[in-house]
Amino acid sequence: GTDPRLLAISAAIRVVPHFPKPGIMFNDITPLLLRPKAFKDAIEIFAERYRGMGIHAVAGIEARGFMFGSPLAIAIGAKFIPLHKPGKLPGKTISEAYALEYGTDCLEMHVDAVQPGENVLIIDDLVATGGTLRAAIRVLERAGAEVVECGCIVGLPKFKAGYRINGRPVYMLVEAI
Ligand code: PRP
Repeated sequence: GTDPRLLAISAAIRVVPHFPKPGIMFNDITPLLLRPKAFKDAIEIFAERYRGMGIHAVAGIEARGFMFGSPLAIAIGAKFIPLHKPGKLPGKTISEAYALEYGTDCLEMHVDAVQPGENVLIIDDLVATGGTLRAAIRVLERAGAEVVECGCIVGLPKFKAGYRINGRPVYMLVEAI
């Protein structure tokens, strides 16, 4: 049967129609952050999956990937790598641009955050088109990392069971409405 913790996690995601633009159904994870038990359970479900797999680093995507990626890194004894939007990191960076519905965005990482051959897990709150995760995978692989999996709290149903982005598996806790 379904892990009862997942039901509480799903119930703690608020769907906001027409945000930030008309026609968009926004999956808001902030109510999950307000429920300490459900928030902790989300991190623990990821930790149960990834503990003992030789993960060297958890890379979190700005901004909401930071909220889940950093506690997970602590829980599994890995380092945490922030993948930032442009212009936030002071050191030498590598970056990867990606397309949005209108325009482009970019993810940046400090080049010395990861060593070639290290196993990295990418974490974000949400996967919708997968464009953000694709850019995250690329930037890590260009730095020589092995991307083990991309983990998200919530995703569109098509990412369930066996879906891959750039050949890397995607794992999500609950389906978006
Ligand atoms: C949201 C979300 C993911 C991304 C998923 O971030 O937090 O990072 O969109 O969408 P995709 O699968 O279609 O790429 P957003 O672009 O709103 O940036 P923000 O975290 O800076 O608000």
